[in-house]
Amino acid sequence: MFNLILFGAPGSGKGTQSLKIAEKFNLKHLSTGDLLRHEISSETALGKEAKEFIDKGLLVPDAVVIGMISKAIESNKTVRGFLFDGFPRTEAQAEALDKLLKLYESSINLVLALEVSEDELVERLLLRGKTSGRSDDANEEIIRERIKEYRKKTAIVADYYENNGVVRNIAGEGTVDNIFEHISQAINEELEVAS
Ligand code: AP5
Repeated sequence: MFNLILFGAPGSGKGTQSLKIAEKFNLKHLSTGDLLRHEISSETALGKEAKEFIDKGLLVPDAVVIGMISKAIESNKTVRGFLFDGFPRTEAQAEALDKLLKLYESSINLVLALEVSEDELVERLLLRGKTSGRSDDANEEIIRERIKEYRKKTAIVADYYENNGVVRNIAGEGTVDNIFEHISQAINEELEVAS
């Protein structure tokens, strides 16, 4: 398996780039945000619990998210590899992911960290909030809370992977195609090393 994490703050372009990466490199895209929104729209018990946190811009509890990703990996175990988008977001999630992948004699090959300034993040999300209907894009206060939560609990996850030497920083401002070119280059280099 070739497993990749697309890492970055809310609005850094993870979702946008993930769709292009998954298609080009034939990876299974797993977005915990998308999975949670699906649970919410299906009005499941998990969705109802998650909504309470998401609407406030806070992270959903680790146990909920880890259980969800574990099921998603289990039901896609024959894929070429996974592209994790929005997961892991805490050190506990990163440790759980390592254990899950070990069950398939696999690990994280590459972490691409998208770097975008806070002003640009807020501007993008406020713009999207006008049309997306996402409750967590509704106003600047919630958006800033999500970014705060990222700095407090998620940014540290990059250090976790830094120790394994698998992190590559990618400038996340500019055109979507230009950023994708840099991402593709980084993935191709890693694939060459792995082959
Ligand atoms: P999630 O769905 O993961 O949202 P997020 O991390 O806040 O990220 P976004 O989807 O807002 O942004 P993105 O980085 O994907 O950027 P995008 O491509 O969309 O999580 C939502 C919530 O669920 C969390 O707050 C949390 O509560 C919960 N959750 C999820 N995972 C969890 C976990 N593991 N643990 C606990 N809780 C969890 O782009 C953003 C906008 O910018 C778009 O409008 C896009 O068109 C635009 N854009 C993209 N690229 C560019 C560019 N280059 N130039 C200009 N605009 C651009």
